[in-house]
Amino acid sequence: MSQTPPTTQTFRAIDVIRKKRDGGELSRYEIESLVNAYTRSDIPDYQVSAWLMAVVLRGMTRAEAAALTDAMLRSGEVLDLSSLPAKKVDKHSTGGVGDKTSLVLAPLAAAAGVAVPMISGRGLGHTGGTLDKLEAIPGFNVNLSLAQFRRVLETCGCAMIGQTAEIAPADRKLYALRDVTGTVESPYLICASIMSKKLAEGIDALVLDVKTGSGAFMKTEKDAAFLAELMVETGERMGKLVVALITDMDQPLGCRIGNALEVIEAVEVLRGEGPKDLRQLCLELAGWMLHLGGVSDTVAEGRKQSEKLIASGKALDKFRQMVELQGGDPRAVDDPKKLPQARHAMMLSSPKDGYLASLQCEEVGIACVILGGGRERKEDSVDPAVGIVLHKKVGDAVSAGEPLATIYYNAETRAARARQLLEESYRIADSRVLENRPLIHRVIGKTGEKN
Ligand code: URA
Repeated sequence: MSQTPPTTQTFRAIDVIRKKRDGGELSRYEIESLVNAYTRSDIPDYQVSAWLMAVVLRGMTRAEAAALTDAMLRSGEVLDLSSLPAKKVDKHSTGGVGDKTSLVLAPLAAAAGVAVPMISGRGLGHTGGTLDKLEAIPGFNVNLSLAQFRRVLETCGCAMIGQTAEIAPADRKLYALRDVTGTVESPYLICASIMSKKLAEGIDALVLDVKTGSGAFMKTEKDAAFLAELMVETGERMGKLVVALITDMDQPLGCRIGNALEVIEAVEVLRGEGPKDLRQLCLELAGWMLHLGGVSDTVAEGRKQSEKLIASGKALDKFRQMVELQGGDPRAVDDPKKLPQARHAMMLSSPKDGYLASLQCEEVGIACVILGGGRERKEDSVDPAVGIVLHKKVGDAVSAGEPLATIYYNAETRAARARQLLEESYRIADSRVLENRPLIHRVIGKTGEKN
């Protein structure tokens, strides 16, 4: 509950920064004041950057994390979608490389009869963002007004937008600042960012995809589980049904990394094609969305229904419909040539015979940002056409000279930097690596699930 600020307390950003820098616990009033002042642009980026860094380094208590989530949620409106008869279910990922599952899941779950009001983010750090991917589709508008968002949702069962001046405006500003100040990697900041957006959507249930591995913000399963528990607890406190799947991000998901390239791969999955790992994860997450949305009794049944909706073309039809309703060119769904194309391509080949032992996933994400697929500064615009296509995944055999990846680029200097980083991220071993990381590590949440 919001506290009325005591009249004797005067908020000064500098005091809050110093208190957190020195490891103190902030009061709800201090956190609320900071969030509200920043949302109104009453305090500058540099003070909030310093505070964010102090949070990354010093952490937060559960009470501070809850106060931050609440303040960010209340910075804007909370949607009331109770007039929609369908259950409202969303999914959100903590961020990965090549993670385009949202583009598949929103139309897929909508085709099954679940309503999906999805508020997503842009690229964050080395990870890609759903909004940047959607904007690769010519004309696609992620900045709908609330009335337009509701209309699209009522018409086709799913709608995908970004944080707005009306919904989660604090996250809109903090997210963009964290992206370029090295302040993403805090479970408390990630929890508040994700849960403030999701709780503002008026959903009944939420499926969280918490990534772990070299391409995730939480590198170890232990850290990922901590974040998952924090988010599940936050959602449950607000009366939502929440489940978190801890999934692997030790190599990119699928084979395409980069905004337009990822749209192509998401469409492949909606056609029943595409890389095995991406297909498997989409079906698993869809199974959970359908189950929590009450259209399947079990997750396994939800997975089966999802497979049928893909095979019948209904999920792809739904995606085409949403693209059109949000101003995008629906022809781009069926014809990849209608998506932005990079002017140049260069191949990266294997230096020797062997097996792909590992691929430093964060470096691959950074290589894509360097190409222009993400932002290095707040004012940067994103190049939708650039990116990387992987021809080999971990465990695959390779021979000397065989293509490992293709780099799509528009600027030579960027391509040279990205190439070097990419080369350094490959490890080729003489014999096949036996470690077999599961795609789904574990599931967290009290869902009463029948798998
Ligand atoms: N996704 C978000 O929306 N916020 C984060 O902080 C990380 C991933």
